Amino acid sequence: MVTSLRLSLFGLLSFTLVQAVSAAECGPDTRRGAEVFATECSVCHAVTKGTTGMMGPNLNGVDGRKSGSLAGFSYSQAMRDKDISWQAETIAQFITAPQAYVPGTYMPYMGLASADDRQAVACYLKEQH
Ligand code: HEC
Repeated sequence: MVTSLRLSLFGLLSFTLVQAVSAAECGPDTRRGAEVFATECSVCHAVTKGTTGMMGPNLNGVDGRKSGSLAGFSYSQAMRDKDISWQAETIAQFITAPQAYVPGTYMPYMGLASADDRQAVACYLKEQH
């Protein structure tokens, strides 16, 4: 009984992991991602080069950027210490549950439930440079 519960939990975790990894495959169509960005992220983040003064860091050129490294933005210590490169996969993982991925982050966002929407917005951000 306990063993089968453990096994099914393991199955669930592997499934989640496979879903997150599939975020690496970005197609050419970023329309859905632009919509998700507009409704979920644009209140705090700009993607236009040079825009400052928003609550969150500018995400122009975020693909390949080291976490917590945009000059002039006051990041949490947690984000500066995270030491990862933002790619479609890591962005999709972060926005699943920001506080779980970067404990102590200043990003006041609960997470995006839809795996398709997470992938769409992560792929959209990859194209913003
Ligand atoms: C209510 C405001 C808010 C919303 C909504 C929000 N963010 Fe953020 N975001 C922030 C803040 C503040 C930070 C800086 C976090 C820190 O320093 O710990 C941040 C950081 C980030 C970073 C790290 C950037 C870097 O330079 O290291 C990424 C990537 C990101 N957000 C993506 C998103 C995406 C994608 C969405 C929409 C699904 C989103 N955020 C929604 C406020 C927000």
